[in-house]
Order: sequence, then C-alpha cells, then structure tokens
Amino acid sequence: MHYAKISERLGGLGSDKWAVHLKARAMKRAGAPVLELTIGEPDIAPDPVLAETVIAALAGGRTGYSNGRGEAPLLDALSKRYSARTGRAIGHEHIVCFPGTQTALFAVMLTLVEAGDGVLVGDPLYATYEGLIRATGAEMVPVPLAPGDGFHMRAEMLEQAVTPNSRVLLLNSPHNPTGAVLSADEIAGIGEVCRRHDLWIVADEVYEELIFGNAFASPLDDAGLAECTIAVSSISKSHAAPGFRSGWAVGPAEFCLRLLPVAETMLFGNQPFIADATAAAIERPSGVSSTLRASLKRRAERLVDALSGAPGIACFMPEAGMFAFVDVRATGIDGESFALGLLEAEKVAVMPGSSFGNGAGGFIRISLTVPEETIAEAARRIRRYAQGLAGAGKAASA
Ligand SMILES: Cc1ncc(COP(=O)(O)O)c(C=O)c1O
Repeated sequence: MHYAKISERLGGLGSDKWAVHLKARAMKRAGAPVLELTIGEPDIAPDPVLAETVIAALAGGRTGYSNGRGEAPLLDALSKRYSARTGRAIGHEHIVCFPGTQTALFAVMLTLVEAGDGVLVGDPLYATYEGLIRATGAEMVPVPLAPGDGFHMRAEMLEQAVTPNSRVLLLNSPHNPTGAVLSADEIAGIGEVCRRHDLWIVADEVYEELIFGNAFASPLDDAGLAECTIAVSSISKSHAAPGFRSGWAVGPAEFCLRLLPVAETMLFGNQPFIADATAAAIERPSGVSSTLRASLKRRAERLVDALSGAPGIACFMPEAGMFAFVDVRATGIDGESFALGLLEAEKVAVMPGSSFGNGAGGFIRISLTVPEETIAEAARRIRRYAQGLAGAGKAASA
C-alpha cells in the first residue's frame, strides 16, 4: 500500500524518543521498583477552578460546536492577559485557540513553512520540535546552545546558522530540556538577527510561569519584534492541566487570518466547556503555578546538592521548568548508555540527552515532578551508579 512521505519523515521521531521511559514503564508493570524521573507531568492536582467550571459548563449545555478562533470568553481573557503583559492592545484578531501548545505549534509551522524552507532551532531542543518541522517538509537547522553559556542562545550563533532559505526561528524560553531563561537583552539581540533576515520568531512559552529567579521576557513583549512574533502557550504547566489540552497562539492579525483556516481544517473548533474553564483559570493568578514553582525549585536545589561531587557528574541549578539537565560526559559514557545502565543497575529512569538533539548526547534529563524524597533516593542511586563507573575506570576524573 502507498503511504505519504510524512510518515517516513516522522519515522523514529515519535515514541522512539521515549524508549527509556517506555522501557521503565514496562519494568514497573512487571513489578520492578523503578523510580520514574522521565516525563514532565505536573504532580499536583489541576487548579480546582478548572473542574468546577467544566462541570458547570457541561450542566449549562456548553457542548455545541465552537467557532474556529475560540470561544468569546476565552478570547476576552487572553486579550486582557496579553494586553497587560505586552502593554499593547491584543484583541481577538491576534489570537487563535488550540488544544494545547503542541497543536498550536503544528498549525503555526504548517502556516509558515514548507519543503525548501529552513527552520532554525536551538540544540538541545524539546523532543517534538524535529517532528513539527519535518512534518511540514521544511529542514531543521540547529543553532548550537553551549553548556558554557548556560544553554542560552547567542545571537552570533544564530547569525552563523542562517541561510537564504531560513524562514523561522523556533525559540523556547524558558527552555526544555535545559531550563535556560533568556533575558530581554538576549531576546533583543536574537530579534535583531531575525529582523535583518526577515525571519518569523515562533516563541514557545509554555513554562512562562515556572521561572525560579529571573524575570520572564518574550519577543512578543518587544514592540520592535511583535510584527514578526507568534507566541504559543497553554494551561498544561501553569495550571497543572495537561489533560485539558487547552492552549493558544498570539500573533499579528494578518498571520492569524492565515492560521485560522489551517486550525479550522484540523479541528473544526475547540470544546466550549474547556474554553470556559480555561478562561476562568487564566483570569486570576494561578495558585497552582506558584506552588508548583516553589516545589520544583526546592527539588532542583535538593538534587543539585545531592549530586554535588558525584564522580563524572555535573548537575547545575536550572533557571526554570520541570527538569535538571545533567552533564555526564566525564563519566566516560554517553547519556543514552548512562540512562540505560542506570535503569538496569539502579532502577532509576531518566531521559537520555540524545532525545533532545545532537547537542545533548552527553547529558541526561532528570524530571523534578516527583516528591522530594524520591529525588533524594534517585540521587543516592545515581551517585552509586556513577561511583561504579568510576570504579570500573570509565570516569575521566573522580
Ligand atoms: C517546550 C514544550 N513545548 C510544548 C509542550 C507541550 O505542551 P502542551 O501540553 O501545551 O501541548 C511541552 C510539554 O512538555 C514542552 O515541554
């Protein structure tokens, strides 16, 4: 039978990236006492206003078809939020709602690029980005992010990667997997390169509310970049509600007019009861995000502390998000071998860096979405595993 080329382009980019996680789940099902620190699922209950509003909305009959852009109460709430954030009037014409950031990114990419185009993206990168880009037929062009720069994108590195085919920079701050948070100055420098080369900036801001110290900055909030920026986000992280599948894209009105038919063709509208709940949730500060932020920060500090001095391991404090990105290069093995070996020997599941781009092969990503005691126990086992490697003579230095 015939298949479209998209199925080949995406081959190996889906569940293959999560092979260690899936193996850990299979071991758990078979009864093994595996500590799972792989995916970034918030481990607290969603903001209660979500369920309350969904129940009321369902009882109130909010179950019909929606329009393609989004329900009016949600568009109002997003208008208010982004107008306050950017200091400019962001109206309904600047917004399109989606079931989550992932779908929003997919539709945005489909609207902006196709075969023959290039999409620049920092490497390491979030595991689904390669698929998002390849699905359109465009080429992914990595911009190296250096551990020595704290994985912050440097404008010079972006400039070097630009080609005549470049159309879009897919920018992620706060960043998964590294936790890097770009400053307004860094974004201005990156934006200057984008403007000069006539590039769109697609800004994935799903971790906006999970920053531990520095202030959040966005190209959307920079008046000089707003015309070339599309910001995407959702309630998945901020309200601990990934299963609600509720997100949005915010960008120039003309772009949104072109995005709309793509969204309508994919979705034929969103769910009104989910839209009502999302509107209710984002109209007030999220108590969930402040609780989550505080516990993620505490867990990250605990992990950094517990891994300090472990042979061959360098664990730095992330600036934001749900993960610690840990350098295991000095153990003498790569991140994938480390993750697989750790799972076998110590029953601790972490993600190999190789799931997050070529620039991440010497790293592992440890999820912080588990209780502090689990972090402490995982750190003890990781340290023991690293000591074993050092004892076997694999570590470059102890
Ligand atoms: C960087 C990044 N973007 C997008 C997503 C997907 O978010 P959503 O649940 O809103 O689709 C995730 C989820 O982990 C993520 O880490």
